[in-house]
Amino acid sequence: MPETLRIFEPAAIGSIALRNRLIRSGTHEGMAEADGAPSEALGELYVKLAKGEAGAVITGYAGVLQQGKSSLPGMLMMHSDALVPAYRQLVQSVHRAGAPIVMQLAHCGRQTRSAVTGKRTVAPSALKDPFFTEDLPQELSESDIHQIIEAFSDAAVRARASGFDGVQLHGSHGYLLAQFLSPFSNRRSDRWGGSTANRFRIVAEIMKSIRRKVGDFPVLAKINAYDGMKGGMRLEEAVQIAVMLEKAGCSAVEVSSGVIAEGLAIMRGPKMPLDALIAANFKFEAVPPVFRPVLKRVLPPFLPSSPKPYRCYNLQAAREIKAAVSIPVIVVGGIHTLEDATAAISGNRADFVSMSRPFIIEPSIVRKFREGKQTISKCTMCNYCAIMIEKEPLRCWSGRLPERSRA
Ligand SMILES: Cc1cc2nc3c(=O)[nH]c(=O)nc-3n(C[C@H](O)[C@H](O)[C@H](O)COP(=O)(O)O)c2cc1C
Repeated sequence: MPETLRIFEPAAIGSIALRNRLIRSGTHEGMAEADGAPSEALGELYVKLAKGEAGAVITGYAGVLQQGKSSLPGMLMMHSDALVPAYRQLVQSVHRAGAPIVMQLAHCGRQTRSAVTGKRTVAPSALKDPFFTEDLPQELSESDIHQIIEAFSDAAVRARASGFDGVQLHGSHGYLLAQFLSPFSNRRSDRWGGSTANRFRIVAEIMKSIRRKVGDFPVLAKINAYDGMKGGMRLEEAVQIAVMLEKAGCSAVEVSSGVIAEGLAIMRGPKMPLDALIAANFKFEAVPPVFRPVLKRVLPPFLPSSPKPYRCYNLQAAREIKAAVSIPVIVVGGIHTLEDATAAISGNRADFVSMSRPFIIEPSIVRKFREGKQTISKCTMCNYCAIMIEKEPLRCWSGRLPERSRA
């Protein structure tokens, strides 16, 4: 069968039946209510994605504990049984619209701000994050780690009770599980640090605890194949981690890369979204509006630029991971054309392609691809979406803020 057709054929991840191989990757929407429950607007967005023929919808990251909540407003939460009825409704409407839905579970660790969470930030080791420098995180104790393991598995229990088709552990982009996995942020000398197996232990224990509580409910994981940090994650080790995930009963591994401190590494692009940064990033909050034009002129040399290439940047890593495991591999990162998506699932590179930004500008991009109406996403990788979520719910800004918000 030609690969372009194969991409639109039904496929499976464990017990999850997908109508095609194009998945909406976890994307923070900033559309949760104050208690972390999904809003009506979020339900409408997910239904649009499902009607637009996304093979599956992975939610924006949902917090498992208040302590690990995002510094961004409107994060979904899954830390309380009281949230289950609201999620049940949401899931039913997505299923009616024809797509399975997977909840991404996360703890931000040191990539958040105590000023927002109201709790001291925590991490595997008491090291400041290179970007979130306000807080010196507290090193997690043995009993804190057990509390986090339970929080992840309790959240999975709630996800299943809500009707979700599976959960995904957020082990990429420098959040808590990635902080444990990476030797850059995990300097522990106990059984949670040191060797790869020790740094993986928290993930293994979460997998075990989920299996104990919910049996063979699908558990996916998103991991970093590499990051640009000194002594950080490297592909060779990520391959071993993928193998360990498979052994631990993981249903699929999504391959990503980068941490927040690298700037535009997770979602790459040709230009720093300067106006958005100055308007929305917490580091510039205290700058009076009159100084913003000056800031705009002097800031660029101090900002990290995006690594290159901007397209298909995790594909080679996905191929190496796929060669080592037999569970499905999902690849994400700059795959914004039908041709690139088709190439990604051919030649044993990956089994599924996931996308984030193309779905922000066009929630029905998959249907457009299938109908042959369009073969290239309209996303220009301006990345205003990624910055403006610090202030407003998710939307496409097409590289432009309204006049009143520009520096
Ligand atoms: C606005 C925005 C929010 C994101 N939120 C999440 C998230 O909650 N969880 C996650 O794993 N990745 C998140 N990402 C990263 C994307 O899932 C994806 O890995 C990255 O954008 C590269 O894929 P793309 O080129 O298809 O956008 C986010 C990206 C954007 C642009």
